[in-house]
Amino acid sequence: MFWIIMEDQYMHTYIILFLLILLSLDCTALDTIYANQDIKDGKATLVSDGETFELGFFSPGKSNNRYLGIWYKKISHGTVVWVANREQPITDTSGMLKLSRHGNLVIRSGGNPMVWSSNSTGNNTVVVAQLLDTGNFVVWNKNKMIWQSFDYPGDTFLPGMKIGKDLVTGLQWCLTSWKSPDDPSVGEYRNIHDTNGYPQNLWWHGEILQGRLGPWNGLGFSGSPVEKENQIYSPEFIMNEKEIYTAYQLKSRVLQRVVLTWDGKTLILQWIERIKDWIVYANAVVDICDRFSLCGPFGICSINKHPPCICMKGFEPRNREEWEASDWASGCIRKKPLQCGNGSGDGFWKIARVKVPDTRRVWYNVSMTLKECEMTCKGSCSCTGYTSLDIRNGGSGCLLWLDELLDTREYEADQDIYIRMAASELEGLVDSLSNFNKKKRTLIVVLLTSTAMLLLFAVAYACRKIRKTPHMKGQGNWYALDAKNTSLQMEQLDDLQCYSLHEVARATGNFSISNKIGQGGFGPVYKGVLKDGREIAVKRLSETSQQGLDEFKNEVICIAKLQHRNLVKLLGYCAHQNELILIYEYMTNKSLDWFLFGLVTLHDFT
Ligand SMILES: *[C@@H]1O[C@H](CO)[C@@H](O)[C@H](O)[C@H]1NC(C)=O
Ligand SMILES: *[C@@H]1O[C@H](CO)[C@@H](O)[C@H](O)[C@H]1NC(C)=O
Ligand SMILES: *[C@@H]1O[C@H](CO)[C@@H](O)[C@H](O)[C@H]1NC(C)=O
Ligand SMILES: *[C@@H]1O[C@H](CO)[C@@H](O)[C@H](O)[C@H]1NC(C)=O
Repeated sequence: MFWIIMEDQYMHTYIILFLLILLSLDCTALDTIYANQDIKDGKATLVSDGETFELGFFSPGKSNNRYLGIWYKKISHGTVVWVANREQPITDTSGMLKLSRHGNLVIRSGGNPMVWSSNSTGNNTVVVAQLLDTGNFVVWNKNKMIWQSFDYPGDTFLPGMKIGKDLVTGLQWCLTSWKSPDDPSVGEYRNIHDTNGYPQNLWWHGEILQGRLGPWNGLGFSGSPVEKENQIYSPEFIMNEKEIYTAYQLKSRVLQRVVLTWDGKTLILQWIERIKDWIVYANAVVDICDRFSLCGPFGICSINKHPPCICMKGFEPRNREEWEASDWASGCIRKKPLQCGNGSGDGFWKIARVKVPDTRRVWYNVSMTLKECEMTCKGSCSCTGYTSLDIRNGGSGCLLWLDELLDTREYEADQDIYIRMAASELEGLVDSLSNFNKKKRTLIVVLLTSTAMLLLFAVAYACRKIRKTPHMKGQGNWYALDAKNTSLQMEQLDDLQCYSLHEVARATGNFSISNKIGQGGFGPVYKGVLKDGREIAVKRLSETSQQGLDEFKNEVICIAKLQHRNLVKLLGYCAHQNELILIYEYMTNKSLDWFLFGLVTLHDFT
């Protein structure tokens, strides 16, 4: 009797407490479960503190299977970011998640006492499982984290998550695609942070390497489609004795997530509240040059070129036939073998602004200078190229390639690579390119001098002759300039005619705009008719220019060029005060370019 009274006294309290707990479970969402508590399919979910994420049982797409997962609570219930029992679907709604008193998360279903387990163990003191507002589901043992869902990513890479490797436990954090929108089990695609050589992000389709994001260069990942000064998404890269990983943070309140879709695309998606949907903010694959090693070993992919593949300097296609048929996979080979080691041996050729080649077979040192790097590369027979590890502050560290250079692309970034080649090959290149300016200058000086002399001579001689025989009409005249030898030969100078300004003005209707047939680099060109009915093209070198002679030089070069091509005849000239006018035979079926010559530059001669 006494016992019953006692029980009765306490019963009220117990019942009230029990009701309170039930109420709180039903009405206020909790973010935590304690040891021996459970979450039954259809009965309850966990909701993170800020109500961003929710954890519970769901069915993906058109499937009827049940999975324990985490999805966005406030914005999009259909967007699942993590699935526990990916490979162990539950076929009915008997599923239940329970936290054991040892801190192990277990999913059971009607017929199966252990569908899935987190395999976490703690002490049987206080264990709790909590869904954080980052989307991370964590098991705590007192204040120590003994398990977290972020260590087992699925297809979604959330801010704060890591993709890479825990060097202590050996755990690899990577993304794996779903099989289909209806099936979260591991599909064909995976996106990993490969820690061989120097870490970089690779995406695979089965055993085929499809693409990569180059290594971290201090500012970003080489070749990343996401701009460095991104206001939303800030990527990071950590490498120490314990772990190597990439992660990212969102700088603003914008909601983004990275997902490896079931059909193999790595996308950054952004939530747009107005349309209540995700849009693609960036795609890891932007163009054909993002296909891994499209241009083969020692090839460079350039999206602005057609075709996009070229060989690096000093290299030529391994298989020209394939190459010409737009199959570049076999890549390029050296024109001249490396000397390797001995004496002057080899040198380096700089390729500016690139996404650096594949770094799976490299050697690196974070403290070397670029010069030390070069010496180290030179000292190793297998070294094929080098660059700085970190491009900030003028560059530091050393990255050496010990194999073929694969998957290089032109890319707007401040990263250069130095590729090794035989010194003899380099000499040729230096000659033709570095000394280009020197050669050009010499050529110009020679031309200028010769032209000036020629002009003076021609003007003096011809004008004197005209003075003697004022009405003489020549058969036209031309002089040949062999630009290659930079030697001038004059032929039939006798017939070079000096026209008066009055005569030229009359022929062109006083340089009438209606007679203007074009505007060359050095002045307008007019069509005209001489008194004898011959059609002429008149080039009036721009009066404003102080460099009449300079331009005249170019003219001579152009004429020389034309001589080779058999040619527009120079009939004469007119020099009156600061007017310099050239008079050509007008050839109706020649293109205007023949008279404009504006496009012809010295480059064509070297
Ligand atoms: C837990 O351990 C079992 C058996 O060793 C294993 O099959 C399962 O994949 C593990 N679960 C997780 C989440 O690692
Ligand atoms: C369990 O408790 C012991 C002593 O209290 C402690 O040394 C050990 O690290 C604990 N293990 C875990 C996984 O928390
Ligand atoms: C370097 O020189 C030595 C002796 O001069 C020679 O025996 C060796 O073959 C050379 N090595 C290479 C790679 O040319
Ligand atoms: C890196 O280079 C520095 C400077 O040359 C050198 O002192 C250091 O030993 C190198 N570290 C490794 C791991 O080779």
